[in-house]
Amino acid sequence: MGAESSEKGRPGRAPGLSYQDMLAGDSKPVPETLRGESSQAPTSWYVPRDRYFSRDYHDLEVERLWRRVWQMACREEEIPEVGDHVVYEVGDLSILVVRSEAERIRAFHNTCLHRGRRLRDDAGNMQKIRCPFHGWTWELDGSLSRIPCRWDFPEVRDEDYQLPELQVGRWGGFVFVNPDVEAEPLDAFLGDLSHHFERWPLEARYVKAHVARVLPCNWKVAQEAFMESYHVVSTHPQLLPSFNDTGSQYDVFGNWSRAISPSGAPSPQLERDYSEQEIIDWMTYRYEDQPSSFRISDGLTARQVYAKVMRASLQPLVPGAADLSDTEVCDFMFYTLFPNFHPWGGYNPICYRFRPYENEPERSVMEVYQLHPFRGKRPPPAPVHWLAIDEPWTEAPELGLLARIFEQDMANLAHVQRGLRASARPGVTFANYQEVKIRHFHDLLDRYLGA
Ligand code: FES
Ligand SMILES: [Fe+2]
Repeated sequence: MGAESSEKGRPGRAPGLSYQDMLAGDSKPVPETLRGESSQAPTSWYVPRDRYFSRDYHDLEVERLWRRVWQMACREEEIPEVGDHVVYEVGDLSILVVRSEAERIRAFHNTCLHRGRRLRDDAGNMQKIRCPFHGWTWELDGSLSRIPCRWDFPEVRDEDYQLPELQVGRWGGFVFVNPDVEAEPLDAFLGDLSHHFERWPLEARYVKAHVARVLPCNWKVAQEAFMESYHVVSTHPQLLPSFNDTGSQYDVFGNWSRAISPSGAPSPQLERDYSEQEIIDWMTYRYEDQPSSFRISDGLTARQVYAKVMRASLQPLVPGAADLSDTEVCDFMFYTLFPNFHPWGGYNPICYRFRPYENEPERSVMEVYQLHPFRGKRPPPAPVHWLAIDEPWTEAPELGLLARIFEQDMANLAHVQRGLRASARPGVTFANYQEVKIRHFHDLLDRYLGA
C-alpha cells in the first residue's frame, strides 16, 4: 500500500503526483482493491523479436497457448435461446459455442466426425447440429443423432462418436472456453480478478457496440499498444493536459494485470501548470468532443466536478452509483486477463480482445466492445461490425471520439511490424515499470510455450 508523497519520486518511479497520491483527494471512499499495489516482479525485459513474425513461433502458440488456455469466446447475450450458437476461431482452432439448454452452454470442436467438414460456418440458431456435406447429425448435447445410410458404417458405435467438448466457464456475462479438458477451472485461472470487478459487474451491462478490425500486425504487437500509457506523450499528445501519464500505476497479479492512468490532472511532462478550469475543459473535450460547459467553483477540482456529473448520469442505471468514488468514474483502468482479454474497470465501457487472424503470424483481429449499463429489459447486443484491413476506425461512428484515438495508434502498428523484421538487434526492450504489464504477459507466454 503506498499513499506516500512522491514529490521526489520513489526509486524506479516517476517524480510528480502518483495515482495513490490522487486517491487522497477523492470525494468518496475508495475501494481497497484500488489502494493496493502489486509486489510481483516479472523477469522478461528483452524478448526475441521473431516471436512477433515467425511462423514457427506462431505455430507453437497455437499448440501450446491457444489449445491450452482459457479464452473469451463470446458474450452470453449473443446466444440467449436454446440452439443459438456462435463460431469462435483462433489459429487453426474452430469452436462451436452453443446454448444446449436454457441454463447450459457447451463448446464443441467445430469439425464433423465423418470427413471433417466444419459443422457450422456462422452464428445462428439450430435445434440439431447437422453437417451440410452428407448430413451427419448430432443433438445439442453432442450425442450422435443420425447418420444417413447408417447400414454403411458397421464399425461406427454411437458412444464413440459424441462430439468432443471443450471446457466452458462464464464470467462477467462472457463465455470462456478452454480446449484443454485437464486445465484448471476458470475460477481458479481468474484468481482475484472477480473480486476487483465486484463493484463494476460486467454481467449487468449490454453490448452497445462491437467493432472488429483486421490489423496488419501480429496480435501481440496490436495488444501491447493498448497495455501501457507510456506511448501517450508521443502518440496521443492532445490528451496530456488532463491525463497524468507518468502518475499511472501498473500492477501484475497471477494471470492478470492492470494499469490505472489518472484523469483530471495534467501530465508532469508538460511544461506549464494548468488551472482546474482548463483541465476540465480538456477532459470534456476528450470525452464529449465539444467545448466544455462545466464551470469549476467552490474550490472543487476538475475531477471532483466531472465525477459528480458522471455519478448523476449513472444513477438511474447503476445501483449504488451515488457511492462510486471519483477514481471509479474518471480514471482509465485497463485490466488484462492473459492472454488477450482486456476489460476496463470502473464505469468506462471499453473491453478489447485480440487474436491472430486467419492463422497468420502477421495479421490480427482487434475487437472493441462497448459495455453499457441499462435499465429494465436488456437491450439486444449490437451485432459485430467488421472493418477490413484498410478501413479506418472512423468508419465505425458508434465508437465516437475513441475511433480517432485508435487511428493514432494504428499509425504505429504496421510500422512496428515492418521495423521488427528490419531490426539489426535480436530483440525488443521493455520499460521496467511502465511496461510491466507487457513483461508479465511475456513471462506467462514463456511459461505456456515452455521456453
Ligand atoms: S463430412 Fe460431415 S457428413 Fe460428411
Ligand atoms: Fe494509444
